[in-house]
Amino acid sequence: MGFRQMLIFFVTVVAVTGRSTAEHNYGEALTKSILFFEGQRSGKLPATQRMKWRKDSALGDGFQAKHISFVTPLQKVDLVGGYYDAGDNVKFNFPMAFTTTMLAWSVIEFGKFMGPDLKYALDAVRWGTDYFLKATSIPGHVFAQVGEPHRDHNCWERPEDMDTPRTAYAVSKQFPGSEVSAEIAAALGASSIVYRKYHLGYARKLLNRARKVFDFADRYRGSYNDKLGKWVCPFYCDYSGYKDELVWGAAWLFRATKEPYYWNYADKYIHNLSNFGEFGWDTKDAGINVLISKLLINSTSSKPFIPNADNFFCSVLPESPSVSVSYSPGGLFFKPGGSNLQHATAFSFLFLVYAGFLKNANRKIDCGNGVIASPERLKEFARGQIDYILGSNPLNMSYMVGYGQKFPQRIHHRASSLPSIDQHLGHIDCKGGSSYFDSPNPNPNLLIGAVVGGPDIKDSYTDSRADFVHSEPTTYINAPLVGVLAYFKSNKS
Ligand SMILES: *[C@@H]1O[C@H](CO)[C@@H](O)[C@H](O)[C@H]1NC(C)=O
Ligand SMILES: *[C@@H]1O[C@H](CO)[C@@H](O)[C@H](O)[C@H]1NC(C)=O
Ligand SMILES: *[C@@H]1O[C@H](CO)[C@@H](O)[C@H](O)[C@H]1NC(C)=O
Repeated sequence: MGFRQMLIFFVTVVAVTGRSTAEHNYGEALTKSILFFEGQRSGKLPATQRMKWRKDSALGDGFQAKHISFVTPLQKVDLVGGYYDAGDNVKFNFPMAFTTTMLAWSVIEFGKFMGPDLKYALDAVRWGTDYFLKATSIPGHVFAQVGEPHRDHNCWERPEDMDTPRTAYAVSKQFPGSEVSAEIAAALGASSIVYRKYHLGYARKLLNRARKVFDFADRYRGSYNDKLGKWVCPFYCDYSGYKDELVWGAAWLFRATKEPYYWNYADKYIHNLSNFGEFGWDTKDAGINVLISKLLINSTSSKPFIPNADNFFCSVLPESPSVSVSYSPGGLFFKPGGSNLQHATAFSFLFLVYAGFLKNANRKIDCGNGVIASPERLKEFARGQIDYILGSNPLNMSYMVGYGQKFPQRIHHRASSLPSIDQHLGHIDCKGGSSYFDSPNPNPNLLIGAVVGGPDIKDSYTDSRADFVHSEPTTYINAPLVGVLAYFKSNKS
C-alpha cells in the first residue's frame, strides 16, 4: 500500500469509526420503513391498514372549509387522503409530492429487491398519487396544502379529533406555484413508470395528468411563496426557487416518455440552476444530475450532468479534497438545518443509484489529489450512513422506531404521543393534549418504522418530544430510505 492509498484507507476508516461490525437486519428495517407510511395516512383508511391504532381522519377535506386561491372561490372538491408530513396534521403538498417521487424512485431502482414488501411500497406510492390526482383535478389550479398550519401547530391533537380549520390553498394561473406544481408533476410522472408494470390504465392516467400539471407549472411561472407565503412559510417555504423543480419535473417526464421535448427542456435549463450540491424536498440539483446521468451512459450529451454529479459526490465523500459537508465524530453526515437524517437518507440513495451507473459505465470518479471514488466506495458510504441510523453509532441507538434494542421513545408526533381511539374514545381537544406532550412517559403508540430527525453533530440524542428538530419523523426522511434498505437487504455490498 503506497502512502497515498494508506492515507485514503486511513481517512476512510476514520470516517466510519463508531460503526460496530454488527450486521443489521435490513429486511426487517425495510418492512418497518414502509409500514411507517400507514401511520401518516390521512383520510379513509382501507381494510388492509396494518397500523391499527390509526383511524380515519380529515374526511371532510376539500368539502368543508373555505378555499384560498385568490381568484374565484373554487367549487367544493374531494381532497380526502394523502399524508401528514411529519408530527402534525397538515397536508403540505410540496414535501408530500417529493416524498411520493422518492418512494416511486425507490421502487423503480430497487423494487426488484423488495420481495413481499413491494406490494406495500406500491400502496405507499398510490396513497400519494390518488391524492395528487384529486389535488390537480380542476384545470388551471393545483392544490398546494390542506389545513391551517398556524392553528394546527398551536394544538396537540390526534388527527382523528382534529377540529382546526381545514382550509385548502390553491395556486392558479394568476397566482402560480411552479415548485409545488412541478414537484407534483414529477411525482405523477415517476409513479407512472412504477405502475406501468402493474396497472397500465392507472399508469396512463398518472402520465396524462403529469404532462398537464407540468405544462401548467411551466406556462404560469412563479413561487407559491408570493401569495401563500403566510401559510406555507416558515414550514415549507420555497427557499431555493422553483427552477429546479421545473427541470426535475421535465427530467422525470423525459424518463417516463423519452420524448425530445422534455429532454430539450432539461438540457437547456439545467444551465439556469445553481449547483448547490443539495438534494431534498426544496432543492433538487444533485438529484437531477444523478437521474439524468443514468440516462446518458456513454452519450455525448452528458455535459453538464455527469461532471456536476461527479462534483457532488466529491463534495460529500470525507476523503475528497473538495469535501464541503461535516461529519459527527461517529461518522454521521451533517448539513445545517433541521431533521438532519433527511440528508443522510436522500444522499445515501443518490450514492447507491450513482454507484450502479458508474458500474454500468465502467468508470470511477476522480476527486483530485489522487482520490478516486469507485462504485464500491459509494456503496460503502451509503451503508455506513444507514448502519449509523440503525444503531451502529456511539450511543448504540437506532433512530428507527421499533427497530433494535434502543430507539426513540418520545417522538414529536401527535398521533403517536396521544392515546389511541381504541384506548380513549373521548374527544381530546386542542389544548387537551398538552399533558401528554409534557409527560415524561414514552409515547403510547409505536409509530413503527418512523425515522426521527436524529442526533446532534456530537452524536447525542435527548429523546424529548419538545425537541422537534431531533425527535420528529418526516415522510421525506423515510422515502429514500425505503430504496436504500431494499438494496442492502439483497446485496452484501
Ligand atoms: C432560463 O433562463 C433563460 C434566460 O434567462 C430564460 O429565458 C428561461 O425562461 C429560463 N428557464 C427556466 C425554466 O428557468
Ligand atoms: C459504456 O462504455 C464502457 C467503456 O467503453 C463500456 O464498458 C460499457 O459497457 C458501456 N455501457 C453501456 C451501457 O453501453
Ligand atoms: C455500545 O456497544 C459497544 C459494543 O457492545 C459497547 O462497548 C459500548 O459501551 C456501548 N456504548 C453505549 C453508550 O452503550
